[in-house]
Amino acid sequence: MPLLSDRVAIVTGAGRGLGREEALALAAEGATVIVNDIGASLAGDGGDRSPADEVVRDIVKAGGKAVASYEDIASWDGARRTIELAYDTYGKLDILVNNAGVLRDRMSFNMSEDEFDLVMQVHCKGHFAMCRHAAARWREAAKSTGAVYGRVINTASEAGLLGSAGNSNYAMAKAAIAALTISIAREMGKYGVTSNFMAPRARTRMTESMPNNSMFAKPESGFDVFHPSWPAQLVVFLASEAAGDLNGQGFIVWGGEVDLVRGWHIVSKLETPGAGITAHDLIERKDELFGDQPRQPTYM
Ligand SMILES: NC(=O)c1ccc[n+]([C@@H]2O[C@H](COP(=O)([O-])OP(=O)(O)OC[C@H]3O[C@@H](n4cnc5c(N)ncnc54)[C@H](O)[C@@H]3O)[C@@H](O)[C@H]2O)c1
Repeated sequence: MPLLSDRVAIVTGAGRGLGREEALALAAEGATVIVNDIGASLAGDGGDRSPADEVVRDIVKAGGKAVASYEDIASWDGARRTIELAYDTYGKLDILVNNAGVLRDRMSFNMSEDEFDLVMQVHCKGHFAMCRHAAARWREAAKSTGAVYGRVINTASEAGLLGSAGNSNYAMAKAAIAALTISIAREMGKYGVTSNFMAPRARTRMTESMPNNSMFAKPESGFDVFHPSWPAQLVVFLASEAAGDLNGQGFIVWGGEVDLVRGWHIVSKLETPGAGITAHDLIERKDELFGDQPRQPTYM
C-alpha cells in the first residue's frame, strides 16, 4: 500500500539534486507532485524550464501525476502562485517540501551585499513565503473541517546548526529555517499541520561546487552513502501518516544514518536572586558558569 495515496505535494527546487529525488520519492509513494523549479544556476541566475519539465516527465512515465511550476519561490507572489497552483489544479495541498536553495560562499570580510541578500532571499524569504501562503490556506480549511492534513518539511543545513566558516550568509539563513520550522510547528500544530526540518548530506551540484568535497564522491562500488535519494526517504516518512505525532523536530540525514537533533538549550546557570549580575561578577564566576563546557565552537 503506497504511503501517500491521494496526497498532493509541492517540492520547491525540485528540478535537480535533492529536490528532484524528493519529488520522485513522493510520487513513487502515490503523491501527486507540483514540481517547482526556477531553473537557476548554482549562483541563482537564469530561468531554465527543462529541469522541472524533465522531473514531471519522469514521474508521469513511472505512472504518477505531476505538474511543473517555474515560479521564483523567493518572491511573495511567486510563492503564493505556487500554493494556488496546487489548489487550482488538484483542489488541495497536503505536503509542502521547502528545498530550493542557492550558494554564494565567501568569507564574511569579502562578502558583497548582493551575495548576502540573494542567499537570505532564496532560503529565508523563500521558506517563509511558502509556509505563510500554505498556512493561510490550511487555517482557512481547518475552520470548516476542524483539522487538516498538513506537512511542512523544511531544508536546513549543518552549517545553520553549528555555524560554518566561508558561508556565514548561508549558515545564518539555514539557522533561520530551523527557527522558522519550530515557529510554524507552534502556530499550526492545532490545525493538524506538522513542521519539521532536515539537514541533509548528499552529492549534488551544490556539494560538488564546494572545496574539499571528496567525501561526497561516488564510490567505485558498493553502497553510495551520499546518493541524494537517501534524504528523500526521510522526507517521505515525515510526509506520511506515521509521522503525524512529530512536530517541531530536526534531523541530520544521509545514507545509512538519521540523527535526531535538538537546538539551543541551557547547560548551566549563574543565579543571584534579588541582585543583578555585573561584569565584575562574571569575571569572578566565569569558571562556575562554564565548568567543563567547551569555550570554543565545537562539532556535535
Ligand atoms: N547537498 C547537500 O549536501 C546539502 C546539505 C545541506 C543542505 N542542502 C540544502 O538542500 C537544498 C537542495 O540543495 P541541492 O544540493 O539539491 O542543490 P541544487 O543546486 O542541486 O538544487 C537546488 C535547486 O533549487 C532551484 N532554485 C534555486 N532558487 C530557486 C528559486 N528562487 N525558486 C525556485 N527554485 C529555485 C535551483 O534551480 C535548483 O534546481 C538546498 O536548500 C540546500 O541548501 C544541501
